[in-house]
Amino acid sequence: MSEIKESSYKTDELIAKDIDAYLEQHQHKSLLRFITCGSVDDGKSTLIGRLLYDSKMIFEDQLAALEADSKKVGTQGQNIDFALLVDGLAAEREQGITIDVAYRFFATEKRKFIVADTPGHEQYTRNMVTGASTADLAVILIDARKGVLTQTRRHSYLAHLIGIRNIVLAVNKMDLIDYDQAKYEAIVADYKAFADSIGIKGFTPMPISGFMGDNITTKSTNTPWYRGPTLMAHLESVELDVTADQAKPFRMAVQWVNRPNLDFRGFSGQIASGVVRPGDAIRVLPSGKTSQVTRIVTMDGDLEQAVAGQSITLCFADEIDCSRGDVITLSDQPVQVADQFEATIVWMADEALTPGRAYWLKIGTQTVSASIHAPKYQVNVNTMEHVASKTLELNAIGVANIATDRAIPFEAYEKNHALGGFILIDKMNNATVAAGMIHFALRRSQNVHWQALDVSRETHAKLKNQKPAVLWFTGLSGAGKSTIANLVEKRLVRMNRHTFLLDGDNVRHGLNKDLGFTETDRIENIRRVGEVAKLMTDAGLIVLTAFISPFRSERDMVRQMMQPGEFIEIFIDTPLAEAEKRDVKGLYKKARAGELKNFTGIDSPYEPPEDPELHIDTSKLTPEQAADLIVERLIP
Ligand code: ADX
Repeated sequence: MSEIKESSYKTDELIAKDIDAYLEQHQHKSLLRFITCGSVDDGKSTLIGRLLYDSKMIFEDQLAALEADSKKVGTQGQNIDFALLVDGLAAEREQGITIDVAYRFFATEKRKFIVADTPGHEQYTRNMVTGASTADLAVILIDARKGVLTQTRRHSYLAHLIGIRNIVLAVNKMDLIDYDQAKYEAIVADYKAFADSIGIKGFTPMPISGFMGDNITTKSTNTPWYRGPTLMAHLESVELDVTADQAKPFRMAVQWVNRPNLDFRGFSGQIASGVVRPGDAIRVLPSGKTSQVTRIVTMDGDLEQAVAGQSITLCFADEIDCSRGDVITLSDQPVQVADQFEATIVWMADEALTPGRAYWLKIGTQTVSASIHAPKYQVNVNTMEHVASKTLELNAIGVANIATDRAIPFEAYEKNHALGGFILIDKMNNATVAAGMIHFALRRSQNVHWQALDVSRETHAKLKNQKPAVLWFTGLSGAGKSTIANLVEKRLVRMNRHTFLLDGDNVRHGLNKDLGFTETDRIENIRRVGEVAKLMTDAGLIVLTAFISPFRSERDMVRQMMQPGEFIEIFIDTPLAEAEKRDVKGLYKKARAGELKNFTGIDSPYEPPEDPELHIDTSKLTPEQAADLIVERLIP
């Protein structure tokens, strides 16, 4: 009987005799979070099943049950058939294609474990990234018959990028290669060459069979040449640097402001790193405001000290501004604040990155709008070469600059995972499309400041005796945008309004003459027009814009740039057939003939507004009637 089996027996005895002592012991065990990475058939389910089975599956809910009724002592799981268990896990995985990661809890006498089981189609790195973000250790599974695959390299590279420093190379299915030592060693050597090339300092290789149980919890007699630990022994004994985060400077991102009544104002969050004590001088970023900690409040009363990982509420001596997303630091150790960064991006969506488009960027406890520039390069995970690339497709890993719409407090991911790691979310469908790691802020973002101006936008507007606005006309080419916008402007001028009309065809002759009609160029076209329109509203003008502006994302981006209520979206709705019939410029004919590529409505999409301020159906109104309606509805 192996050492571990014996210790399980002792555990049973302890549970039976003294449940309180058992629970107490259990509570003080260290926790190892790990992830298993492998392709579909590498035997992940079997391995996890084996670990759960051999550790006798002491689950958290079972512990809770034990705690609730200490007489009902049981050791569930002991009698479950191993094959049945694995089948169950596999079935769960299949159903769980949409769940990102299933976390499974188990414990041995020495340690507690949470293993992130990444279900679903394994070609997606998303699951792995999600599971790995909190892991202390990664088990890279290799099918001994197949050796090191692209997938192995991708997962290892990701694990390393994410900052996992403990890597186990589990060469699985040894039974299927007759426990051949030479083959095993060739795989390990192959992996080592790759690991060296990406800077993985060390890894622990082991020959195993999840199915047969070789070297999982007991030393296998089939591999007498193997001198290392079993997988379980390694997981139980691998050293965890639990104090590393405490040794770093104090940082806490504010999750919410706690103000139950006028006498109490506290800032709640989880400490990302460092230590804090009452009396500490603190600084809130991005504002830079300073104060002093008066109390550290928790559910269990006030603390004299709080450390990384703890969830606390801080009270300050002064009523300084501090809100969700802000970062609290010690006053002499602030984090940087910037709005432009270089970052590594791991693309996880089927739809490729659209450079220039705005995505939600979630970092720490805040979400901001951000656009990603075209990648500087993409990494070929097999050769580690930097490859030129205009975008990032599913599973691609690349480096790009990012611009956020406001300055955010951050730290390089290398220094602080919580303040340097982010995810990107598609604004239209809310899907998580990428994970990223900040390298550094771009200098230019630090050296360009806002100049405070004495003549305000209010002064400009007041002088003109009007409320600035942007009348944003959108619709197909030939829908009538320019015609109607032109009539509206004439009516406004007659009413003594100060206006300016920005028209697609005209702007493309000057400011935007470097842009064509690819998706990326159209996005940039609208971004620039949005910025110009914004400056014009600052000058107090009523701006009219006539651009196809085919994408909802960018129209919404411009809407967000303006003051609330200032952006008025007017959908000039002309069916494609009608616009094509008119074909004033003869462009539809060219597009149909294949002489003009990326033509909106033909081989480039138009996304109609979902909820425009005004919807003009040109089949029911003449341009004059449409213009009258717009002026009547919008201009007080
Ligand atoms: S947008 O898509 O970027 O908003 P914009 O309004 O500036 O387009 O320009 C559209 C005008 O450019 C059309 O009215 C048409 O005259 C001309 N044009 C030339 N090529 C194309 C094309 N491939 N797709 C659409 N319009 C084109």
